[in-house]
Amino acid sequence: MNAITNISHSERYARCIQTSKRVRWDVDEDVIRGRRFNPAHKFLPDGLSLVDAFTTLSADEKRFVSQIQGRTYANIFGLVERFINAKVLELSHDHWFGDQVALEALVRFSDEELKHQDLFRRIDKMVGEVLPLGYRFDIDPNGVARAVLGKSTWAVLTLTLDIELFTQLHYRQSIEPDTELSELFKDVFLYHWKEESQHAILDELELVRHNAELTADKRDRAVDDFIELVAAVDGILQAQAKSDAGYFAANCGRAVNEAEARAIEAAFRKAYRWQYIHSGAQHPQFGKVLSSLITEQQGQRIKAALATLQ
Ligand SMILES: [Fe+2]
Ligand SMILES: [Fe+2]
Repeated sequence: MNAITNISHSERYARCIQTSKRVRWDVDEDVIRGRRFNPAHKFLPDGLSLVDAFTTLSADEKRFVSQIQGRTYANIFGLVERFINAKVLELSHDHWFGDQVALEALVRFSDEELKHQDLFRRIDKMVGEVLPLGYRFDIDPNGVARAVLGKSTWAVLTLTLDIELFTQLHYRQSIEPDTELSELFKDVFLYHWKEESQHAILDELELVRHNAELTADKRDRAVDDFIELVAAVDGILQAQAKSDAGYFAANCGRAVNEAEARAIEAAFRKAYRWQYIHSGAQHPQFGKVLSSLITEQQGQRIKAALATLQ
């Protein structure tokens, strides 16, 4: 890490290009390799699905929950990568007639996010082939992207850094060490992680660069934008938790009474807030970068907003 922080920004963009070339993969040849999902396997690991929170479910039902959440995990990434890619293309404009190394790094970043979206669409379809009908993911990526891009660049980049850092944390801490996971599901996130590692470095470089151009007033408003974006993410998570809990109840093969249905929905909501909000907010590198850009009072505002999402 010290070796990385001590090198110049230009060198960091160049290293991202080198690594991007070295790890580059193909959706079919490297990731899917003609395989199909097996419903006997768990998809999302316990550390992310928070399966212990689903206290009324049997082991088989908990596996079904991991599969529903795994499908939603792929869909949420497909969703956020739509606005991430649009923002990266927009930022690349700043480098058109400047640093061509930075420009190349961002073009590769964009190309990779387009490929990832294709991968996640494929995964949604493939999971759909082995799970019961009726799963819904009704959130429109373009509608979300338009709303997100209406916020300040500082806020969008901060949210993007958060997302791309927690992607890595999820893989290293939960997906990689879980020996019971579907090999195919594991590979999807192994390959995704390999390219996301460069994205998080580029997010940080672009965020620090953009931050230096902001006045204190503009940054203060951008902190509010960031809080509004996190609240919007939470709205999406709440809707999907409700949808996924309903899908579970309709397909688990037994009657679920109203009290249990509410508890299951609350457990889905808790898991999704952990996956997409709190795990990233607690990431040490995210905390380090963010606190270097904002005042203590602004940090408290963000913390207070996050505390309401429990
Ligand atoms: Fe990605
Ligand atoms: Fe990414």
